[in-house]
Amino acid sequence: MTVVAIDGPAGVGKSSVARAVARELGFTYLDSGSMYRSVALAAAERGLSPAEVAPLIRVQPGDRVLLDGRDVTTAIRDPAVSEGASRAAADPAVRAAMAAEQRRLLAHGDWVAEGRDIGTVVAPDADLKVFLTADPEERARRRARELGVDPTTVLAEQAIRDERDRSREHSPLRPADGAVVIDTTDVTLPDVVRRVVELLRDRR
Ligand code: DC
Repeated sequence: MTVVAIDGPAGVGKSSVARAVARELGFTYLDSGSMYRSVALAAAERGLSPAEVAPLIRVQPGDRVLLDGRDVTTAIRDPAVSEGASRAAADPAVRAAMAAEQRRLLAHGDWVAEGRDIGTVVAPDADLKVFLTADPEERARRRARELGVDPTTVLAEQAIRDERDRSREHSPLRPADGAVVIDTTDVTLPDVVRRVVELLRDRR
């Protein structure tokens, strides 16, 4: 049973890195952000608060994200849902529900789990904790390329969400104790992946 925790801010390349590391190691990939996004989507659809809706729904993260059995993989990438997820993630009741569910998943098997608080809260005893960073401009460029939109708009929205993620009272975004911080600004994706895989091999 092995857990690799990969945390960091939006647009830093966590998903690409975590997915590739999981593939390389034959581990299962957990995108914890997809769970916050699903809560935000369900809350908006039902006109309830994220805390009210969280206990009522069942989210299955995976290659396809299922919300009560419905495929919401594309719907949760909508910018309005991103904004809602950032707000939902500031609610301690929502965080507690998500963290409990994530711990339940991580208890069996080998995982690469990606998010904001995997190393600090969800899996502080992970075999390897990585915190990815990159310059804000570079992160906005990466996100903009992914979404096919203007980097300037992404940069402005990203700054607001970064600040909210960092300054929230509960589980603010920060490197976990013992986390290896990797600045990915000028590093290619395959090089970051190689480094993470090497770090894990060194520890086993
Ligand atoms: O990584 P993402 O953009 O899909 O995450 C969506 C939102 O959820 C983002 O505002 C950060 C928040 N989040 C969190 O607070 N904790 C996590 N473990 C994962 C995501």
